[in-house]
Amino acid sequence: MDTVLITGGAGFIGSHVTDALVESGISVVVLDNLSTGNRRNINLSPAVTFIEGDVRDDDLIEKIFKKNPSMSSVIHLAAQSKVGPSLNNPLEDLMINVKGTVTLLEVARRHEVKTFVYASSAAVYGHVENLPITEEEHTKPLSPYGASKLAAEQYVQTFGALYDMNISALRFANVYGPRQSADTEAGVITIFIEKLLSGRTPLIQGDGQQTRDFVYVDDVVKAVITPFLRSNETKVNGVFNVSSQSQTTINQLLMVLCREVGNTFNPDYSSERPGDIKHSYLSHDKITKIFNWKPHTSLNEGLKRTVQYYRSLLEDC
Ligand SMILES: NC(=O)c1ccc[n+]([C@@H]2O[C@H](COP(=O)([O-])OP(=O)(O)OC[C@H]3O[C@@H](n4cnc5c(N)ncnc54)[C@H](O)[C@@H]3O)[C@@H](O)[C@H]2O)c1
Repeated sequence: MDTVLITGGAGFIGSHVTDALVESGISVVVLDNLSTGNRRNINLSPAVTFIEGDVRDDDLIEKIFKKNPSMSSVIHLAAQSKVGPSLNNPLEDLMINVKGTVTLLEVARRHEVKTFVYASSAAVYGHVENLPITEEEHTKPLSPYGASKLAAEQYVQTFGALYDMNISALRFANVYGPRQSADTEAGVITIFIEKLLSGRTPLIQGDGQQTRDFVYVDDVVKAVITPFLRSNETKVNGVFNVSSQSQTTINQLLMVLCREVGNTFNPDYSSERPGDIKHSYLSHDKITKIFNWKPHTSLNEGLKRTVQYYRSLLEDC
């Protein structure tokens, strides 16, 4: 059976992807430097080998491939994944997101990897008037993070065109669910839940009427795994949005969370964040057409499961 390399497998999305592959009987090597990931997220199955290391370290990645000759797929989720640090240190963001991706692609190519799945982001689009945003839309990132995700995405596509490698670049909307840390870009849900569970007042930046596209992590995991499972059937080199294709206002989001937690809806409001996009949601028609992928978890259900998870963490403390 083939082995899959998952970078960022100690992080939020990567740890769920690892769990799902292990459940399907697939062996996984996790490469993660634990910069934002957490050891307790790492699946403890004997089918998982954890290597603490950096995606920019080509000697290490070469060694990993040599030790695992059956490794024919890479799921690349490791990244500097926040806008703020990318503004403070764009060079570091570039090195992790672009150099890290190209390093991985080069070693993967040398070892004749068949499938490479890359986690891109809705941040590559920037401000877009035409909603829902399709993959054909112009890309004008508003942050170094968006720019580095886009540059890496283009390297991934270039390698897919040059070599016999199935590649999918998945542009995630706002992913949420258990294990998400409160200080990530889409961490608003975790922030609200932590506040509500500890009896503090949540803060909404702006009037709360701004909308976002929230997609539950289990659905995202299926989107990540599908191209990999289907790689023997079709040659793929493409960019795909992964989204709920629906808009939720921040006020609606908080209202559902308050109901789930059993609080009244009574947030504080502050001025909106400069540069914040008012409305954003992504079409997922393309990935539905090519891979028959659709999200199945409603916002209510996803939030319920997420609240349960954070409640259980508090109970364990
Ligand atoms: N969460 C979202 O809503 C969202 C939205 C769009 C795109 N994405 C993308 O999805 C991917 C996963 O995001 P996440 O939310 O799980 O973030 P995360 O921070 O939880 O996971 C990223 C993981 O990568 C690891 N990592 C970071 N730099 C590394 C390096 N140089 N070498 C090795 N490992 C390194 C971290 O330790 C962490 O475990 C990222 O590529 C991110 O850009 C996430």
